[in-house]
Amino acid sequence: METLAKDRTDEIIKKYDSLPGSLLSILEEIQTSTKGKFLPEDALVRVGEKTGIPLSRIYSVATFYSFFNLVPQGRHTIVVCRGTACHTRKSKELFDHLKNHLDFSHVKSGGSEKELMTTSDGNFTIRTVACFGQCALAPVVEIDGVIYGHMTVEKLKTMIKKISKEKVKK
Ligand code: FES
Repeated sequence: METLAKDRTDEIIKKYDSLPGSLLSILEEIQTSTKGKFLPEDALVRVGEKTGIPLSRIYSVATFYSFFNLVPQGRHTIVVCRGTACHTRKSKELFDHLKNHLDFSHVKSGGSEKELMTTSDGNFTIRTVACFGQCALAPVVEIDGVIYGHMTVEKLKTMIKKISKEKVKK
């Protein structure tokens, strides 16, 4: 498993350590700097050692915010909202479509609240979120950080096809 070099972790901690709310900034930069866009366990331990913040608190922050990942992500991340507004507008159908049409060789838990899977080729990670706060646009899906409202299975199929082709072109 890829992890972040200790020197790089220390550099990030030093950059934010004296600022208010530093833990969130530290975790955010560690995640974006790590291959697979996640928070490696050794980096979290290092944050605890260097800042004096108890590891239990670091983990509770890392698991509370849905944008933090504790396992490596695929090249593309698709997040389907499972909140009430989205659920009543059939978001489960969207998630089931992804589950049934992408190749998942293994399922990894992303924490108690999340369903999280990565395709065997490492191309896609799919997961759910409790609510994006965009309920008027239900059902809502986020693809690589961009929110798409009023999503349908047809639209989702087209977008996945487009993303997959982009990968082939590179
Ligand atoms: S329930 Fe889906 S965005 Fe709020």
